Amino acid sequence: MLESIKLSETSALVLLFLQDQVYHSNAVKEYLLHLDLSAGKELHNACNAIWPQYAEVIVNRKHTILQHINEALAKNPSLQIISGAAGLDPFGLELTQRHKGLEIYEIDREQMPIKAGLINIPNLHLIACDLADTTTVIEKLKQSGWQQDEPTFLVMEGISYYLTPDILRNFVTTIKPRYAIFDHLRESGMNEAADLIGSNVFDLIHDYIKMDKMQRYNALSLRELLEMKIIKNWSLCAMEHQRIGQNVHFPSDDFGWVDVTAFESKG
Ligand SMILES: C[S@@+](CC[C@H](N)C(=O)[O-])C[C@H]1O[C@@H](n2cnc3c(N)ncnc32)[C@H](O)[C@@H]1O
Repeated sequence: MLESIKLSETSALVLLFLQDQVYHSNAVKEYLLHLDLSAGKELHNACNAIWPQYAEVIVNRKHTILQHINEALAKNPSLQIISGAAGLDPFGLELTQRHKGLEIYEIDREQMPIKAGLINIPNLHLIACDLADTTTVIEKLKQSGWQQDEPTFLVMEGISYYLTPDILRNFVTTIKPRYAIFDHLRESGMNEAADLIGSNVFDLIHDYIKMDKMQRYNALSLRELLEMKIIKNWSLCAMEHQRIGQNVHFPSDDFGWVDVTAFESKG
């Protein structure tokens, strides 16, 4: 019988939104079969009650990030990937299926033992650590084989909301990535309808995980904080257009509350 692991509400939520929309490898399908997402159903229903198309936000964000990384790897296959706060997301697993020999380091303060019980791929390194503890992060990355002096692509998906500017800056400037990609909750630039959806959904998640405050960043505030150059910024409108070739749910740039921004080091 298939072993099934019951996840916490918030871990299950993103995976419920994701369904089989972005990652298509058999390894990911097999991995997802082992996860029982029922704990996230209530939160999933509550988000859908705020805006029935909420899954589109997650799918667009994940598609944009995956496509950008695939393009970066096509140009520079020797990049190492670090995913900060990877959680149970199968992003790293999908990348191992598409890019043979790629070294991927996934860090999270939770979930890693569960993931390690389901995935055993030598190039996918699962590191249990808090991003705020940069000394231990660097130590564990190096122990796992990360080459500090070689170019790294840092993926920060679904995490900027939870990190204070100080912790975020400290982590990124310690890793010193050549490239980075973030999704972030806008500080400004959304119309009233978009602001209402984004604020209601994030207030709901905020109440579930009982944190002090959700962090908001614009692309420019992140650029200043990280001391990196912006390569590209996508609104949800731009992400949707890139994914499906038209706009259905996100008709304009100001109808969006989450952006994805790609960065490059200055040096
Ligand atoms: C919403 S999930 C994002 C998972 C995945 N990156 C995605 O986008 O689907 C947020 C993750 O951040 C992790 N997290 C939050 N604060 C963290 C910290 N200070 N250090 C390490 N992980 C952290 C949580 O454990 C959780 O797995």
